Order: sequence, then structure tokens, then C-alpha cells
Amino acid sequence: MVNRVPNPDELEPIETASVDELRSLQLERLQWSVGHSFDNVEPYRMKCEAAGVAPADLKSLDDLKLFPFTVKDDLRQAYPYGMFAVPQRDVVRIHASSGTTGQPTVVGYTKNDIDMWATVVARSIRAGGGGPDDVIHVAYGYGLFTGGLGAHYGAEKLGAMVIPMSGGQTPKQVQLIRDFEPDIIMVTPSYMLNIADEFERQGLDPTRSSLKVGIFGAEPWGDSMRKEIEKRCGLEAVDIYGISEVIGPGVASECIETKDGPVIWEDHFYPEIVDPETGEPVPDGEMGELVFTSLTKEALPIIRYRTRDLTRLLPGTARSMRRMDKITGRSDDMLIIRGVNVFPTQIEERVLAVEALAPHYQIRVSRDGQLDVITVQVEKTAGAADVDSVAIGSELKKGIKDYVGVSANIEVCERGSVARSEGKAVRVIDERQ
Ligand code: DLL
Repeated sequence: MVNRVPNPDELEPIETASVDELRSLQLERLQWSVGHSFDNVEPYRMKCEAAGVAPADLKSLDDLKLFPFTVKDDLRQAYPYGMFAVPQRDVVRIHASSGTTGQPTVVGYTKNDIDMWATVVARSIRAGGGGPDDVIHVAYGYGLFTGGLGAHYGAEKLGAMVIPMSGGQTPKQVQLIRDFEPDIIMVTPSYMLNIADEFERQGLDPTRSSLKVGIFGAEPWGDSMRKEIEKRCGLEAVDIYGISEVIGPGVASECIETKDGPVIWEDHFYPEIVDPETGEPVPDGEMGELVFTSLTKEALPIIRYRTRDLTRLLPGTARSMRRMDKITGRSDDMLIIRGVNVFPTQIEERVLAVEALAPHYQIRVSRDGQLDVITVQVEKTAGAADVDSVAIGSELKKGIKDYVGVSANIEVCERGSVARSEGKAVRVIDERQ
């Protein structure tokens, strides 16, 4: 495999700047961003006034903790454009979150915002081993979701050739990968596995495709899933993180040489970890809820946005900027089963630990009297068709009991019957209502 680690001279200077230089840039930009929001976003100014803080109080990065949080509900209440800080004529694009629960949230971008976004996505692709000579197949959805267009503009900015395939039409994904021979694919990890299945359905070996790198994100996936995808698809898998309210994909992304968690592009997005209960910041290295403040965004500056994603901050390795650990899950996705907190990613780890099981799973939550019950639906791999399903089920049940601490019912289903994703996988079906 060719060495895809970028040369230091290909990086933007800020990626390798000293921590002091970075902090001083952050403070300058943070003061601008908080001021911009205070001056132009009425709902946020009102929150600041209620809390008795003003931009002049921001004398150090540490002072950020004096400022109020922004939550998804603030955007909902200001639906659609009430949090925009610029006149509509300066907005060149909007996106909206899927809004599976309640109203969608709308985010806006000026020309400069689109350019900054493309820059951080280009940087992310470069960190993942991509460059101008590459052909990049984008299978994130295009449209209101930020994944497709976000990846697209970044890939173009890098000078790569883009195949704007979007999500869905799985047989066609395979055909285009065969015909156009992309080097890189950008897609959710769960959809990558679906595409790999389609290769096999067509009698093709996914490890022999042209793909060398996959830049996967938009949903939680653990390190066992990384190994599974790398083996199944014969490529290097790196993790890209993002969230619409902060920009979209490219808030943080992993370096191919270390694969040790996404590097946060801290010159544009300032991270904090807070205790999800109290909202108090916790030191680097400690788990909590990820909070972001945009430092350069014009149309929708966002101050202390509570992502609900649980992770921790780690020191820089391949870059001077800090990394985030892989996301354990969203606080909203946490299941409480007989008093035990359970994240789908923990179940995923156990499914992948059973050799005979395919990496597809779904968790159903139901109620038996007063008690919540989880049922994990899984499938055997093609090679394990003759292995006893009862034995496999018991192995998974034991793994979940031993490592996660809950009793789960296991259903080993027919191959192909566990729901497949064409974007973000739906891991939990709640049947309690
Ligand atoms: O999913 C943006 C994106 C597109 C990221 C393409 C990466 C690639 P939203 O639809 O607003 O934006 O969803 C954001 O997805 O709060 C996380 O819970 C989850 N998420 C995103 N990236 C990752 C990741 C896009 N790498 C929500 N690992 C976030 C785990 C992720 N979870």
C-alpha cells in the first residue's frame, strides 16, 4: 500500500503551530465570535443579559465558562432563521438537521462560511491520506443533510475528483465504484458495510475494489467496527466527526498515521467537555458532554453548543491540536436497562466479538410489566451458515452480560433481515410507547 501520510509541508501552518500560538489565535477569534453573536443574535444576547455577562468579560479562554450554553431547543424556538447573525442576503446556503424528533433545526452559511467549511473538510481528507490526485466517491446523502455537500466541497477544494453519488441505490454504488475506480469513499460506516454486502451479492470481492481509504462518520462506531470494515473492504478506515449546528462534517477528523481519534480543528471550533448533569467544565482526559463554540462562523455563530455527544479530550499527537476520543454515544441514545446505562456502541463491541456474527445489529427495547427488556437482533456471517444459532445466541448473551452488565434477549435472524442503513443506521427501536 502506498504511503498516504501527508508531508509536513502539505499541511496548513496552523496544523503544526505551537499550542501557545493556537491559544492566542483562539482567544482573539473567540472574542470576535462571542461579540458577533451578542451584537447580532437576539436570543443569545438575551441569554447573556439574563446571566449578567457581556463580551467584555471574556478576557481569557477560561472565561468562556461564564457564558450561557446554546441548546438544540434554542434553534428550534428561533425556527427557521432567528439565530442567524447576518442579513438574509449574505446567506448563500442553508442546511437542516433531520429532525427525527420535533422540528428540524436550520443552519445557515455565508460565502466565507462555505469556504471555511470546505477548508476544514479538505484538511480532514488530507489528514485521512487524500490528495489532489485522488478520486473521491461521496455516498453521504446530498440535500438538507450536511454530509454530502460538506464532503463534496471539501474534496473539490483539495483538488480531488469527486463522484457525487449521494446515499442509496446500493447496486449502483457498486457499479460506480467498479467503473470509476475511486481511491477514497466518504460514507457512514454502516452504509459501507451494506455496500460491501452488495459487492458479495454480486459475486465480487470488496477487498479487491479500487478503494484505499474510507472516511467514515455521522454515527458512532467503535474500534472493533473499524477493524471489521478494514478487513471486509480492504481499506484504511478513518473517523470524521461533525454536527450541523457547528458546521457539518469536518469539525474533527482522524489522521491516517495514528488513527487515534479525530483531531479537532481547534482554530475554528473551540471544544469543552462538561459534566452532563451540572454543566461544569471537566479537565481534559475526563469523560463528559462535548460542547463547541464556533470561532469564525458568520451566519450562525454558535456559543457553547451542547452536542449531547459523550467523549473526552485527548492531547495532540500527529497535530498540535487536541483530539477527541471516539464517541461513546449521545446522551439521548443511552438506554437505562434495569438501572444499568447501556450504549448501542457497547452492544456493537460484543456483536463484533462473536466470530460467526455479521456486523449488522438492531436493538429493540420493550417493556415486560415494570421492567425494560432489550432484544438484540443479529445475523450470522455467510461463512457461518452451518453454525448453531442457539450456541451463537448464547455466546452473545454471555458477552453482553459479562461486559455490559445487562441480560438481553438475542434473536439470530435470517441473513439480510436486520435493517440495513443507507445513511445513519437506526440502532434502537423503542417499542415502549
Ligand atoms: O452527521 C455531520 C456529518 C456528516 C459528520 C458526515 C460526519 C460525516 P448531524 O446530522 O447534525 O451532522 O448529526 C450530528 O452525528 O452529534 C453525533 O451524535 C453523530 N456523529 C457525527 N459524526 C460522528 C462520528 C452530521 N464520527 C451527530 N462518530 C453528532 C460518532 C458522530 N458520532
